[in-house]
Amino acid sequence: MKKLSINLGLNSYAIIIEDDLLFHLSFYIEQIYHNDKIFIITDDVVAKYYLDTVIEGLKFRYDVETIVFPNGEASKNIDNYVYLVKELLNKNIRRNHLLLALGGGVVGDITGFVAATLYRGLPYVNVPTTLLSQMDSSIGGKTGIDFAGRKNIIGAFKQPKLVLIDPRVLNTLSQREFNNGMGELIKHAAIGNKELFNKLKSKPLIDENIIFESLTVKKQVVEKDEFDVNERMLLNFGHTFGHVIELKYNYKHGEAVAMGMLMAIKLGIDLGVTKKTCYEDILAIIKAYDLPCEAFDYKAYLASAINDKKNLAGKLNFILLEEIGKAIIYPIEESKLKELL
Ligand code: GLY
Repeated sequence: MKKLSINLGLNSYAIIIEDDLLFHLSFYIEQIYHNDKIFIITDDVVAKYYLDTVIEGLKFRYDVETIVFPNGEASKNIDNYVYLVKELLNKNIRRNHLLLALGGGVVGDITGFVAATLYRGLPYVNVPTTLLSQMDSSIGGKTGIDFAGRKNIIGAFKQPKLVLIDPRVLNTLSQREFNNGMGELIKHAAIGNKELFNKLKSKPLIDENIIFESLTVKKQVVEKDEFDVNERMLLNFGHTFGHVIELKYNYKHGEAVAMGMLMAIKLGIDLGVTKKTCYEDILAIIKAYDLPCEAFDYKAYLASAINDKKNLAGKLNFILLEEIGKAIIYPIEESKLKELL
């Protein structure tokens, strides 16, 4: 078992990483929740694999209700949000009851958003079941839904009370879905842990220790900047170009981030910021995990990437690597970017 504490004052919480944790979630939930009712929100695919196991481990202690919706990004919308709220109210949820998100990023994000808004806030626990959500969306309190064709455009910061990660669930992921999560894990290593990065070269088993090390990078960043106005931007390494690729082509998030990292490294090299060897280093790992590494020229995507960026005070902030394990926020003048084209 590995435990990581996210220290955010009153919003602090623990992440527990433990093999076979799904069988006894109540052991950890009891430590933070003393009421009698839990509402599990999950999707139909995850329900098939894990819902019975989870209920079995909770029901001797809690009265458990379940709401299931169809798997997939299309469920992360306002209609499903309304459906969940209505279902919860029909089931007589009270403001001191606990929501439990069992699933990948879609389940976690929409459940977190319900938790942020229903009764102006309910406690919730995240139980992420994909590597991608274990690495990213289940940690850090970003919740939300897609709207008007834009991802995560309505949302709130709402930290969970607890995050429970069972590495064994990774065994039921397809190879592609597993590699998708590796995109974010490689990103954490690239921006903040050179030793972990070097370990990944030999494709180690993704176990409690590797997950712990990867999430430690995210923890350090989120603790400095809970509301994503400064350092937290470092987590967007590979995302500026990645978002453009993800929207334009049929790539999964972690796949697009892998290509986005390669493009950001090229940009960094051209600006004289990034050590040249970084490109080959990351390319080798991306290839090892069968992530796409098509030679997209960042210059062809710069204009769209500039539009996609959340700019602060007119500055264009790119996340660049100086070297493996060291990312920086690098403000660039628009005129300088144009010179590169
Ligand atoms: N996914 C980036 C963040 O949590 O800030």
